[in-house]
Amino acid sequence: MSATIISGKELSGLIREKISKETEELSAQFGKRPGLAVIQVGENPASTIYVNNKKKACEQVGFQSFGYSLPESASEKELLDLIDQLNKDDRVHGILCQLPLPKHMDEFSVICAIAPEKDVDGFHPVNKGLLSIGRDCLVSCTPKGCIELLKYANVDICGKNCVVIGRSNIVGKPVASLMLHENATVTVVHSRTKNIKDICKQADILIVAIGKQGFVTRDFVKEGAVIIDVGINRCEDGKVRGDVDFDDVVDIASAITPVPGGVGPMTITMLLQNTLEAFTRIEKGRK
Ligand code: GUN
Repeated sequence: MSATIISGKELSGLIREKISKETEELSAQFGKRPGLAVIQVGENPASTIYVNNKKKACEQVGFQSFGYSLPESASEKELLDLIDQLNKDDRVHGILCQLPLPKHMDEFSVICAIAPEKDVDGFHPVNKGLLSIGRDCLVSCTPKGCIELLKYANVDICGKNCVVIGRSNIVGKPVASLMLHENATVTVVHSRTKNIKDICKQADILIVAIGKQGFVTRDFVKEGAVIIDVGINRCEDGKVRGDVDFDDVVDIASAITPVPGGVGPMTITMLLQNTLEAFTRIEKGRK
């Protein structure tokens, strides 16, 4: 039997339609549109593509987008001053500073400068802390997208064994917190873990965010497991592939996200969702 394919492309489309409708209603109510400020420092080509996609997505759902481009040579002070100005700007409800930053800048200081209520990436320590204690907060986009995909596929999470491969601050750790809040039994494995395969083989739900193309093969997978593949690896043949060897596992898993078209499209959609949430919270607070 072949696994059900969980389409992030399809789910993204549905959520974006809902965001567009809500944006129309809320914009009429508050007399302004949600605004997202996107900052890029330097000219990393991959970052430029991401930033342009984010701005385009904003406009598609009726948000305003404000693009700021600083040269690679900009000082950290210039960036912090810009963030300070955006924190105070009433047209801006979300601030995103595209990472990575040039080496002479301290990412943590920059993230900390963003007002937590405008931190639509969910990277600020206030939001990270709130997430870890299970309180309402802005949740990082990729982990949030993983949970939405599981719910869309009607996967029952409560009481299930979930193994997360990877312990990054952007994906592994926050997705582990979210799965705990959904009452899964969560294990996080990483580069120093012994017997990764044996641990993964116990998983009812396997979330893979290790950044190594084709790392997960059929010998990692329990019959009937659900697999969420967070990997985006551009291969030598120009194709984008995940961290999971899709063809090798597709007849063992019960459901799996494809790459491309799985978690990827959900990340920008969750950014839009976070911006709408920030907008609603900020504008309700003003009334
Ligand atoms: N660089 C790669 N992914 C991301 C992301 O989700 N947010 C930001 N700000 N930078 C990134």
